[in-house]
Amino acid sequence: MTERTFSIIKPDATQRNLTGAINAMIEAAGLRIVAQRRILMTKEQAEDFYDVHRERPFYGELVEFMTSAPVVVQVLEGPNAVVRYREVMGATNPADAAEGTIRKAHALSVGENSVHGSDSLENAKIEIAQFFDEGDIVG
Ligand code: GTP
Ligand code: MG
Repeated sequence: MTERTFSIIKPDATQRNLTGAINAMIEAAGLRIVAQRRILMTKEQAEDFYDVHRERPFYGELVEFMTSAPVVVQVLEGPNAVVRYREVMGATNPADAAEGTIRKAHALSVGENSVHGSDSLENAKIEIAQFFDEGDIVG
């Protein structure tokens, strides 16, 4: 089924000029970038976005990192986009990520892991709506 998922190219990647290299891996995997914007997240945006992790010990560090430099927020579209993009990203910790994945190729650590992707279709809808108006997504 054709789905949409939400992606973030994180500060560690934008700072190393890896936006194009990561987009090439996304497109090679059969996912189409149907909306994209480079932004500097506010502290409030990062706190809201990662609200589920509020009680975790790394929450402060995570918010600090996500606001430390620009990110690229994206909507990706394609067959089974949510699961497909999780496969393309690889495991959260790059040490565990499979060969050929974005995190294996580019991530620096479990925190600075280059990309975010929604973990369910329900969360994808919520996350997309946090950063895009429906009219800005051209499929
Ligand atoms: P996201 O797609 O970014 O949500 O990654 P994920 O779903 O693979 O991981 P999870 O939702 O469990 O964690 C969200 C993000 O928090 C991760 O991508 C990391 O950037 C960060 N994170 C997770 N665990 C740690 C940790 O132990 N230390 C630090 N510094 N950051 C962490
Ligand atoms: Mg997650």
